[in-house]
Amino acid sequence: MQSIPLTDRFGRQITYLRLSVTDRCDFRCTYCMAEDMVFMPRSEVLSLEELALVAETFIELGIKKIRVTGGEPLVRKNVIELLQHISSQPELHELCLTTNGSQLENMAEVLKRAGVNRINVSLDSLQASRFKSLTRHGELDTVLAGLDKAVQVGFDQIKINSVILKHFNFDEICDLTEFALNRGIDISFIEEMPLGTIHSHSRELEFVSSEELRHALSAKFQLSPSEYSSGGPARFWRAQGYNNLVGFISPHSENFCATCNRVRVTATGRLLLCLGNEHSIDLKKIMRTFPASQQKNALKRTIVQAMTIKPEKHEFDLAHEPQILRFMSATGG
Ligand code: 5AD
Ligand code: SF4
Repeated sequence: MQSIPLTDRFGRQITYLRLSVTDRCDFRCTYCMAEDMVFMPRSEVLSLEELALVAETFIELGIKKIRVTGGEPLVRKNVIELLQHISSQPELHELCLTTNGSQLENMAEVLKRAGVNRINVSLDSLQASRFKSLTRHGELDTVLAGLDKAVQVGFDQIKINSVILKHFNFDEICDLTEFALNRGIDISFIEEMPLGTIHSHSRELEFVSSEELRHALSAKFQLSPSEYSSGGPARFWRAQGYNNLVGFISPHSENFCATCNRVRVTATGRLLLCLGNEHSIDLKKIMRTFPASQQKNALKRTIVQAMTIKPEKHEFDLAHEPQILRFMSATGG
């Protein structure tokens, strides 16, 4: 295999960047945020120019897929310009977006025009009151209208992401799957990760493994393993009679670190080498220290060097206080 600039100590080639453009969000999903979240001051968040430079630099280092994420990326002002800039880089194969869907009805068309290939929409319940209590602020109808619009506009892939909690929405997995498959949408179920301290529920008591999910789904769907890979951590299964896929992201029960191909950059410019470890490098400091003409080279040297501290794997422990203090919203899904 040809070696690319971003290869870590374990021989893993890094070709996928998740770039968070804001830590803010219009929802407060219970597993993702504390109710009284304090967000980063704007001066700490990368400017659009800095985000564009980070993206360009990674692409020059061999990154082929970028996922723009948040918080909620569509609440960031002028995010469309950034998406256009990223998608116009010829070496990039795919531009993806993760969103909670709250702005999709108005923005799906312009996202498509900006060159977004694939979108992931977070949706944990199809029951309006439950959706509200899980997201604290979200309106189910708005998200469903956004999803319909996205389907109408037509992206290369649309995928629903559902975090399943035993006593909140485990009973909805067949409904969610049917909802997605009937619309020609893929769906992935995610095991909740202990990122940040929350008080709404016990992550340990709410844990449901992907295996349990597949067992419960087998009451309604005949699933068989699929070879398809999205280049992310999800493992996919095909439901007989449908064209779309059912994925499982199983950070606890089926560790996927051996095939990790990705790194993250937070909205404040922290390069995170692993979702489940604190190893990080401050890219913002480099951009704000070096003169413009030297920034890209300085970033390149730093990012290549950072590969030497990419941890081998995450160690999540649901029974104890989280080791990772940052919330998913600060990390970038
Ligand atoms: N564990 C698992 N998934 C999470 N998400 C947010 N916080 C967590 C967590 N603690 C999910 C969101 C979204 C995706 C980006 O990450 O629901 O779908
Ligand atoms: Fe917002 Fe997504 Fe976190 Fe929910 S999971 S609060 S939608 S960033």
